[in-house]
Amino acid sequence: MNERPIGIFDSGIGGLTVLSEIRRLLPAEHTIYLGDTARVPYGIRSAETVTRYSFECASFLMRQNIKMLVVACNTVSAISLPLIPERVNVPVIGVIEPGARAAAAATRNNRVGVIGTEATVKSGAYSKAIKNIKNNIEVHSLACPLFVPLVEEGWTDGEIARLVIEKYLSGIKETGVDTLVLGCTHYPLLKPTIQSVMKDVALIDSAIETAKTVKELLEKTGTGRTSPEAAQHGFFVTDSPEKFISVGEGFLKRKIEDIKKIALPMEV
Ligand code: DGL
Repeated sequence: MNERPIGIFDSGIGGLTVLSEIRRLLPAEHTIYLGDTARVPYGIRSAETVTRYSFECASFLMRQNIKMLVVACNTVSAISLPLIPERVNVPVIGVIEPGARAAAAATRNNRVGVIGTEATVKSGAYSKAIKNIKNNIEVHSLACPLFVPLVEEGWTDGEIARLVIEKYLSGIKETGVDTLVLGCTHYPLLKPTIQSVMKDVALIDSAIETAKTVKELLEKTGTGRTSPEAAQHGFFVTDSPEKFISVGEGFLKRKIEDIKKIALPMEV
């Protein structure tokens, strides 16, 4: 069990921010990452479609003999996370709960902002999770659909990024939130620019919080890898690997070598 890899999936490249934190915190663990690059973005799709795609990703990873499943995508975590454990026989971790816990712990004035894709915001999942922890927290949620393409283009700083961020976040700023959840895989890459617009606001990075949860669960279940041999990291994508490699190596700050293209749904 301990030698088996941790499986991580996302709608595309953004989940590499979660993988990056897992690898930083748990360098001994083997990982397998699946990016559904042929069908990204999920954030503009219906709940039914997101759920179907997520089942396909989860069952592909189960065939890789993983010991734990990490749903790096905020949109999937917001919409279909409760349904996935019924279909897999390993522990499943999403990004919403860890982010919500960190936000509830960080706020001093009980006003929290959440930004994410349209589907994540529409689901109300972050708001519910935060209020479950502390029901007197006021949650202000906002979809920022242009942030994903900005990051995909590598425009994470500079004037265009700053103007787009200022325009989206002006309303949330006026609500007086002291904590802002970056509720989308791509947003941690905009963190310095978001911070320059939202001065004195604590930014919650779901990727970091999720990696901490993975570590806690491995410790609790005694399933962490202890072998001194170097960990292996495999990648699967559903579209051609070239763009994934060029943009992804920037996200991951490491080389992406072992990568294969697959088709979803799998032919059975
Ligand atoms: N991975 C998605 C998320 O975290 C962002 C990209 C998409 O819309 O698929 O919500």
